[in-house]
Amino acid sequence: MIHFDSHIKSKLPGAKTTIFTQMSALANELNAINLSQGFPNFDVSPDLIELVHKAMKDGHNQYAPMQGLPELREELSEAFSRNYGLKYDANTEITITSGATQAIYAAITTVINEGDEVIVIEPAFDIYAPTIRMNGGTPRPYKLQGEDFHIKWAELRRLITRNTKLIIINTPHNPTSTVLSKKDMEELDKMTRGTDILVLSDEVYEHIIFDGLKHQSIAAFPNLAERSFIIGSFGKTFHVTGWKTGFCLAPEKLMSEFRKVHQNVVFAGNRPMQTALAAYMHNPENYMDINLMYSEKRDYFLELMKSSRFTPLPSKGTYFQLFKYDRISDEPELDFAMRMTKEYGVATIPLSYFYSDNYDNKILRFCFAKTDETLENASELLCKI
Ligand SMILES: Cc1ncc(COP(=O)(O)O)c(C=O)c1O
Repeated sequence: MIHFDSHIKSKLPGAKTTIFTQMSALANELNAINLSQGFPNFDVSPDLIELVHKAMKDGHNQYAPMQGLPELREELSEAFSRNYGLKYDANTEITITSGATQAIYAAITTVINEGDEVIVIEPAFDIYAPTIRMNGGTPRPYKLQGEDFHIKWAELRRLITRNTKLIIINTPHNPTSTVLSKKDMEELDKMTRGTDILVLSDEVYEHIIFDGLKHQSIAAFPNLAERSFIIGSFGKTFHVTGWKTGFCLAPEKLMSEFRKVHQNVVFAGNRPMQTALAAYMHNPENYMDINLMYSEKRDYFLELMKSSRFTPLPSKGTYFQLFKYDRISDEPELDFAMRMTKEYGVATIPLSYFYSDNYDNKILRFCFAKTDETLENASELLCKI
């Protein structure tokens, strides 16, 4: 008999099923409206679906090259050069991955070893810290405070030690829906210049930014780009989160090491989707105005929620909207989110989940990447609370 408990040393002791899985399961079980997990519930472009169908019928069903399909890497290289002014070499500096999740795993695994420290800005997307730990590193959380969630760079800088190997940034930001400004990027540049600190820039919501704001990609800051991985996701841009197709951009020295990890984790991403995405991306009109579609959804949702007792916080990007509920209840976020799902039929995510110390400020995250009908039905229920 194998003694699993003593024989297997858990890489992630204490890790539980994520809140997204838990809340989505609860929503399904109770037939509640699911505004918890971040995924669109509207249709994907029929043209894009047709392109996948065609790719499959045309026989593009075997392994893609390890780095990803050359046509798709070329499209990304063109898009980053056009949008942010930096040309990444499609052959040596771009890799297609199985979602941004796998790109983040590979990037962190590439650079983090035992004893390394990583600055993680909290509240943070939940995969960063476990991936750092699996590689023997230590996350050093910097906690965003107040309700504007702005970075105070002088405070963040104090977390740097001689073991700091990486800082992770995410703009537009999940879960707070804030965006980094040009000034923030200049501060990051000042802070890292002359050091060996690397940057992982999670830009999966690069095209979902509102109110005329401009996405500040690392690619628009050549000095920062020299030390950075940029991570993106086709799932977010083309409303196909289930395809799990993403990418990583990095200077050749970083990318060649990244590919050593990537090829031993998945070898290559999904082939027919890559063929279809390359053809679809060729026309920037297919995605460059999704910010308008999403800002209309945000505005519509806010209008519908006007008569509720929830207080909205500004949403500048992503497809999330935070609401404070302190005028309704003083229950902890998780309890209130659970009760809202059970008693009122709407599932959300407690913001406390994204802090390592479960900091609780009576705020919930709502996903508005939903049809008008879903938003109308949800807000009708929410306005009764
Ligand atoms: C900030 C952030 N990074 C990465 C991901 C993962 O993207 P993908 O679905 O392409 O793996 C998500 C998905 O929710 C996200 O919100």
